[in-house]
Amino acid sequence: MIDFIKDLAKRAGDKSLEYFGKLSDSDVSGKATKKDLVSIADKAVEQFIITEIKKRYPDHGVFGEESGRSDSDSPYCWVIDPIDGTQNFVNSHPFYCISIALFYNGSPIAGSICAPVLGKLFYAEKGKGAFENGKKLSVSVCHTLDTASVATGFAELRQNRPEPTLSRFCKIAPMLRDVKRCGSAAIDLAFVAAGIYDGFWEEGLALYDVGAGILMVTEAGGVVCDFNGKDDVPGSGVIAASPELAVQIRSALQL
Ligand code: IPD
Repeated sequence: MIDFIKDLAKRAGDKSLEYFGKLSDSDVSGKATKKDLVSIADKAVEQFIITEIKKRYPDHGVFGEESGRSDSDSPYCWVIDPIDGTQNFVNSHPFYCISIALFYNGSPIAGSICAPVLGKLFYAEKGKGAFENGKKLSVSVCHTLDTASVATGFAELRQNRPEPTLSRFCKIAPMLRDVKRCGSAAIDLAFVAAGIYDGFWEEGLALYDVGAGILMVTEAGGVVCDFNGKDDVPGSGVIAASPELAVQIRSALQL
């Protein structure tokens, strides 16, 4: 199963490169708000992924960012973000990825994140660890906010809901050594699993943004919780870090 997912993410990454740096204005449009973009690449890559999945697992369900949820009674569901970091992609910024996760009865059991321009392929299978290009991943051992490099995003701003996101940001940011905001929640989560970032937080994300990344963090020894310390992820926010740091990030985000 993991070999299929890894290979599919890689091939979907190759597909995305057919469009990267080549989009014209007419290839990009707004979604719920004009700040929330979709391109012909998002749609083409998602259609490619779904076609390949249906060839092998015709009865499985699918939940894709652009095509929505399919009708299926199967306990298996493929959660797909065909281009995570669309804003970056349309501006030829390399920090984007393809995120594919397989859920069973509502929990991720396998997933892969391919960042083709960065040359990185992350993957994880429940109970078997998280890896990048064959190397086993572990979250960082950083355990204080003032020595932590933590990533975030502003999904709520895209939906024209600046608060409480901005108040939370202004509270926690001065406590941290560094804040990263690079525009792909899926890569941010994979970087937490790899120990590149010490933590991540964001509110307003969708399941397809985080489906593969949350499995990678937990398989790399980290924890994922919502802003209340529960598992209502991503609905009540997402925090991902080592167990020690996650508690401190959650506390710092309380208003
Ligand atoms: C977006 C990215 C971004 C995050 C947004 C997401 P998309 O995904 O992950 O980092 O801040 O909330 O929507 O829309 O480009 O697939």
